[in-house]
Amino acid sequence: MSEFPQRKFDMAPMPDKQVRLVPLTEEWIDQLIQWRSRPEAQQHQPITALSRERLHQYLQSRNPGELADLVNHDYIFIIEDEGQGEGLGWMTLEIISRLHGLARIGYTIAREYWGQGYATAAVRAIVRWLFIDTPIERIEADCSVSNPASRRVLEKCGFRYIGLKRKYLVIQGQRVDHYYFELCKNDIPV
Ligand SMILES: CC(C)(COP(=O)(O)OP(=O)(O)OC[C@H]1O[C@@H](n2cnc3c(N)ncnc32)[C@H](O)[C@@H]1OP(=O)(O)O)[C@@H](O)C(=O)NCCC(=O)NCCS
Repeated sequence: MSEFPQRKFDMAPMPDKQVRLVPLTEEWIDQLIQWRSRPEAQQHQPITALSRERLHQYLQSRNPGELADLVNHDYIFIIEDEGQGEGLGWMTLEIISRLHGLARIGYTIAREYWGQGYATAAVRAIVRWLFIDTPIERIEADCSVSNPASRRVLEKCGFRYIGLKRKYLVIQGQRVDHYYFELCKNDIPV
């Protein structure tokens, strides 16, 4: 028996919230550091120390034109409200393999914006971009077994539950089981 209810492609209607994913720029560094330092951001995901200097280096190593070609392995995007341009949180993208078109995503919304559909809108936005404009054909995401909101976001975006990754990541000193989800190109209309 499956250890997780199968709700394959249980997609909710498009959220009314619309967001824009903007590659990280210098002006967002302080805000990103502040978001990352919050206890609620660290509760269910391993947030490693990331200094201002390290983020400057990250930006200096980037060529804006590379984005569609996904030349690097790790990318950070700011999630902005499309209407107000307000910063809502951030999205991470890891290119696992360019050769095989594999990527992994992660997302965090600042607490004051929780429960309004923003994470769902942001995940849908990155899925659309990756599947339409880049060679990525398979996206993975993991969430802690004690993070039902994150699991729900993935379900709403059409991700499929694959299995339990036992003792997968170390979060606040404890090894934590994670649910493993995937989405392949053409699984859903984008
Ligand atoms: C997880 C997180 C990204 C969700 O962001 P959000 O903008 O509130 O998400 P959305 O509003 O798009 O959707 C949340 C869904 O989870 C549901 N939800 C929230 N808390 C829940 C709970 N305790 N149990 C079950 N479902 C829950 C909401 O009802 C909603 O589903 P619905 O639309 O079917 O009602 C946000 O809480 C966050 O940033 N948390 C801290 C960082 C984090 O955990 N990131 C994910 C790491 S894998």
